[in-house]
Amino acid sequence: MAEELTPAQLRRLEAAARQAAGNAYAPYSGFAVGAAILTSSGKIYSGCNVENASYGLTNCAERTAIFAAAAHGERKLRCVVVYTPTPTATAPCGACRQVIYEFGPGVRVISVCDGKARTDTTIKDLLPGAFGPQDLA
Ligand code: THU
Repeated sequence: MAEELTPAQLRRLEAAARQAAGNAYAPYSGFAVGAAILTSSGKIYSGCNVENASYGLTNCAERTAIFAAAAHGERKLRCVVVYTPTPTATAPCGACRQVIYEFGPGVRVISVCDGKARTDTTIKDLLPGAFGPQDLA
């Protein structure tokens, strides 16, 4: 059963993800991404992708948002919303799926864009059979 959010929570998350994309630092790809996450305390943290001249150091929007939450002591995610200014929705990359799973094995993952398309799924479906904290317990 996916995390049930109120329409207001979903609206706020989507707005935060859209706003965060405006801060994307993506001079190399030109691909702006914004993410917003809802934690179990009810707070929203947002982030954008931050690229680097040594390409491999690029940080995706999802991880920027999750690390911001973790830096504030928030370790339980309920929902991640990803926004891209594209006609179709963009799914989190593999690295982000692993990081999402670390703090939200039951998290809901929604992707929105400038078109009507959207996806609404769970990290369990995006990363089946995940390696995670349970394997080191
Ligand atoms: N990117 C994200 O921020 N999130 C994703 O899930 C996919 C990719 C960023 C990384 C890079 O700055 C740009 O999009 C192109 O890959």
